[in-house]
Amino acid sequence: MGKSRQTSSSPSGDDAVGRLLVSRDTIASRVDALAGQIACEYAGREVTLLAVLTGAVVFLADLIRRLPLRLKLTVVSVRSYPGETTKSRGPDFISQMPSGLAGKDVLIIDDILDSGQTLGALLRAVGEQNPSSLRTCVLLRKDRPDLPDRPRPNFVGFEVEDEFVIGYGLDFGDLYRNLPDICVLKQGLVT
Ligand code: IMP
Ligand code: MG
Repeated sequence: MGKSRQTSSSPSGDDAVGRLLVSRDTIASRVDALAGQIACEYAGREVTLLAVLTGAVVFLADLIRRLPLRLKLTVVSVRSYPGETTKSRGPDFISQMPSGLAGKDVLIIDDILDSGQTLGALLRAVGEQNPSSLRTCVLLRKDRPDLPDRPRPNFVGFEVEDEFVIGYGLDFGDLYRNLPDICVLKQGLVT
């Protein structure tokens, strides 16, 4: 018990799963701390979460159960990586933006900030509805010194290297979302 793992087994039995980046235990304690910060920020108010599907589902499920707040949940479906690729094509909204956000305290929840295009597009789309406040929370922020003008999330779980990661909701070709740990995709599969 308590021995840290160096690898995380692949749910599909193949070998796309590379180095362990963030273990399930480390994720759990960080999500606890993030929930504490968010609960403080919105204490005594109602918050409307806008979660970005599909990648944010696992993070979202863990986070909301730690938030002792009056909370409404809405979702939007966005796809940036069609098929088995690690090259983003930019965000494609595949569901309608929720309406009715005017006057609400909105917190956008996403799995990872990479180029920032997804968060940027969402900030614009929600901003047009005139929410009372608009903040953002990402579990992971990739280190991208080449992109100094990316949106700055209000809440960040972990800063990670600029590598393609899978697990805890994050996918490659729609697989590996059910890995409990966050791992690096094996180098040979990076495009
Ligand atoms: P951005 O628009 O480039 O910031 O990318 C954000 C979206 O791309 C995230 O919501 C993820 O769904 C996806 N994404 C970015 N990097 C990764 C990764 O390393 N693994 C899996 N999905 C990723
Ligand atoms: Mg996403």
